[in-house]
Amino acid sequence: MTGDRALIVVIVGPGALGCLFAALLSKAGHSVWFLDHDRERACKIADHGVCLLETMPQFQAVRATVNANEIGRADVVLLCVKSYDVGKALEMAAPLLVEGPLLIALQNGLGHHEILRRCAGLSWAVGITSQGAALVEPGVVRHGGSGITTLGFMDKAGIAAHQCLAETAALFAAAGLPATVSADISSAVWDKLLVNVGINALTALYDCANGELLEKRRAREQLRQAVREAARVARARGVNISGDPVARTEAVCRATNKNISSMLQDIRHGRPTEIEAINGVIVREAAALGMDVPVNQELTQKIRAIQAGGSVNRNRSVP
Ligand code: PAF
Repeated sequence: MTGDRALIVVIVGPGALGCLFAALLSKAGHSVWFLDHDRERACKIADHGVCLLETMPQFQAVRATVNANEIGRADVVLLCVKSYDVGKALEMAAPLLVEGPLLIALQNGLGHHEILRRCAGLSWAVGITSQGAALVEPGVVRHGGSGITTLGFMDKAGIAAHQCLAETAALFAAAGLPATVSADISSAVWDKLLVNVGINALTALYDCANGELLEKRRAREQLRQAVREAARVARARGVNISGDPVARTEAVCRATNKNISSMLQDIRHGRPTEIEAINGVIVREAAALGMDVPVNQELTQKIRAIQAGGSVNRNRSVP
């Protein structure tokens, strides 16, 4: 890959983030494909492209298919599915992975890294993004604010792979998706995980926007305890957690105060959530270290119960 040529980018998962990356990369002249398991949605996107809602709606042509063989080859494969769908996404993209494109996984949480290690068999990077995006309808995305995307390799990667990641980050930045490469992506992943630990399950349980967590006495206390527990687990595993993770999480609540978290959106739409990759991973890591994390345990159990169709008390009015 050279810094000045157009990339062939395959995005697996046309959710909010997938559509945002597709629209901006296509606008910058890259050749963008969606690989989707949903034939109807793929046809709609292939016919109409993606629509990016900023000040004015902008339509961008992208191709879309359910069959990776139709694409032929890719320079970059971006996994924009939920963490629990990473295994299926890798299976679907398998014909494209043979030639060793750069694979970048953009998920919340941690649980899926083991699947990437087992299935990918090639250099895979992860990305943590603070881009704000909300899906309005299939193929239509509202850009809720630009933020940086941090990329890096969780495992050892060769010089060529490092070069390729740096070039990709530069091309993303040139396309209006500010990106940087971190030599310590594991810390960045954990920093973001701690924010999700404090926000996602609680917004789902209290059925509230991110900022409202700070206005509810009990919710704010639970947020603090959940993040502190998770930070203790991270440090016990030797992860370098920078600064004050509680202050960082509360700052994200303020910066995204009107946002409906991804987990609350999932619960509202009756979809599975990423609880296992967020609070669930803290519970499992803590158990392996012989540590107690009662708040994360409670949050995990309550979200599991909701997913299983149970009637956990979700109450907006709790102070
Ligand atoms: O998952 C989410 O919704 C986001 O990662 C965050 C940062 C919690 C903002 O809503």
